[in-house]
Amino acid sequence: MSPTPRYLIRGGQPVGGRVRSLGAKNFATKAMVAALLAEGKTTLLNTPRIGDVDITCDLLAAAGATLAWSGDADLEIDAASIRSARVPVPDSGSNRIPILLLGVLLHRLGEAQVPVVSGCNIGARPVDFHLTAARMFGAEIEISRGGYHASRKGPLVACHYTLPYPSVGATESCLYLGVLAKGTSIIENVATEPEIIALITMLNAMGARIQLRPNRELVIEGVERLYGTRFEVLGDRIEAASWAALAAATDGEITVDGIDPATLINFFGPFNAVGGGVSIEGPKSIRFFRRHALRSIVLETDVFPGFATDWQQPFAVMLTQAAGASVIHETVYERRFDYLEALAALGAKTQIETGCLGSVDCRFRGRDFPHSAIILGPTPLHSEGLTLDVPDLRAGLAYVMAAALAKGETTITSISRIERGYGALIERTRGLSLDIALA
Ligand code: EPU
Repeated sequence: MSPTPRYLIRGGQPVGGRVRSLGAKNFATKAMVAALLAEGKTTLLNTPRIGDVDITCDLLAAAGATLAWSGDADLEIDAASIRSARVPVPDSGSNRIPILLLGVLLHRLGEAQVPVVSGCNIGARPVDFHLTAARMFGAEIEISRGGYHASRKGPLVACHYTLPYPSVGATESCLYLGVLAKGTSIIENVATEPEIIALITMLNAMGARIQLRPNRELVIEGVERLYGTRFEVLGDRIEAASWAALAAATDGEITVDGIDPATLINFFGPFNAVGGGVSIEGPKSIRFFRRHALRSIVLETDVFPGFATDWQQPFAVMLTQAAGASVIHETVYERRFDYLEALAALGAKTQIETGCLGSVDCRFRGRDFPHSAIILGPTPLHSEGLTLDVPDLRAGLAYVMAAALAKGETTITSISRIERGYGALIERTRGLSLDIALA
């Protein structure tokens, strides 16, 4: 094996079989942060063993929490002895968790020192909404080159804040800030992704008083303390959608376990329209296949309940096999199509546009961001020993899919970016007829 592990994939055959979706990265890490709000023990079930969870474990341990795994996926977090307000720079250098710790440490310790870190390489990913929210709750924030220092004189106080955009992370920050603030807060224009609903449910199970109103409004009645809880991490709807797209793209048949079909509500429509088939096999088990020859589609990504931005990369791989010109208008991130270059190297015909090729009133209109894509199909993909270097997590799994679809052998490098969110991919795909090995 080479010193930096890489995947070697031989593709060109239908991929079939069975795979289990891990617990959702984008909830597990937020639930771990929420556990710090209780002065007791919280147990998270179905916690995925992935890079981002390891990083979050390190950040929590640095704050003084005690963490213990039992079995494969149960993580106990004891937050009784939190003592350090300084959040270290995560090992990977990029991760969205530090900024979420700001509100939690402010409550517990009266201050927080949070480093400036980026997320994946998909756009600027600022944290201005998080900082404004903390200030609205009464925090004082100083910004230095090393990061953000937040402090409070007394308890945080309730506020009325309208988010400029329904940001997932900023909604989470508002939840952490609001649950222990003095008084009743109203937060408008919040994100309502299934992972946010899970976080609200978990916090309420810890003793919080949060109501989500139908109009994207949160009413948070602050309480004096929260209690530890046991909570199950929901299945990863992004991973499940990727296996669905792989089944349809290669004309195989993949059963995904561990996923609640309701979290894929707005994936099924476009998937069926392209030619995919869905069969619900059990409460958390879905079989995906190709129902008819694939055909093109026009779609836009959006906040929930729209078509998730994290679904667009696997979907684009599938669209290389659909007849006609497909269009994807990305309205959540300004720069999330760089990965199409790699698909083009495998033979896909794609074009990226800066204009808005869609009907949603997009924040990027007229701002020269490459945020619309055209994919012409069907095009057979092929690889004569190509090497693809993974730029970010979701693009990474899309590369695995594209390599599985392409006739020939493909090497995929920088796979730690994939393992950040999909952990132990080789072992977990043993039930699939996917020819993938570590090299
Ligand atoms: N935004 C701002 N200012 C802020 C916060 C966000 O302008 O203070 C903008 C962002 O730049 C972006 C948009 O708002 O254009 C949406 O960002 P959001 O805050 O919703 O994203 P996030 O919380 O940083 C999470 C997931 C992403 C997922 C998005 C959208 C985690 C750790 N990450 O990011 O997942 O794409 O929500 O659903 O939960 C991934 O898992 O690979 C991933 C990128």
